Amino acid sequence: MKTLIAYATKRGATKDMAARIAGGLGGADIVDLNGPEAGRVDLSAYGTVVIGASVYAGAYRKSAVAWAKSREAELATKKVALFEIGSAKDALAVRTALPDLCGRAVAVAKLGGEIRWKRLSPLERMIVKAVMKTSGDSSTIDDAAVAAFIGSVREASL
Ligand SMILES: Cc1cc2nc3c(=O)[nH]c(=O)nc-3n(C[C@H](O)[C@H](O)[C@H](O)COP(=O)(O)O)c2cc1C
Repeated sequence: MKTLIAYATKRGATKDMAARIAGGLGGADIVDLNGPEAGRVDLSAYGTVVIGASVYAGAYRKSAVAWAKSREAELATKKVALFEIGSAKDALAVRTALPDLCGRAVAVAKLGGEIRWKRLSPLERMIVKAVMKTSGDSSTIDDAAVAAFIGSVREASL
């Protein structure tokens, strides 16, 4: 059966990671959880659902949490994997946001994050400067973690 990757991004890094994971899996459908198709996506065709979202101020994006909760009954019949995108090395926010789903997921991972300076608002720039001591583009995407995550999803989907 097919794999769906459902993602929620604010500045594009999670969207790019969804595409990267789809490529690593040898193909997957992708849905933007902030787009109009999120509410009407039919999960019956999918055996595996990967959910990914970025973290801001310690919180997994609300649209991903709301979507996962609204599809709880259907997701209970699928293999589920969850990833989060964020620059800090904190504990995983998704484990707090979706504890039950994380408890039965085939993979749960933080894959690092990207600061895309030009896309940040003035307030976001102030926060990044103060907290991360940086004022430009940066990436902490963890290639080994990405490869391990893709491997776990592939294995579970066989
Ligand atoms: C204002 C602000 C707050 C952030 N807070 C966190 C955070 O609490 N934890 C974290 O790991 N990353 C944090 N980040 C980093 C973002 O998660 C990172 O830039 C990520 O790649 C954004 O993904 P997106 O482009 O898909 O939204 C923060 C970034 C900004 C600009």
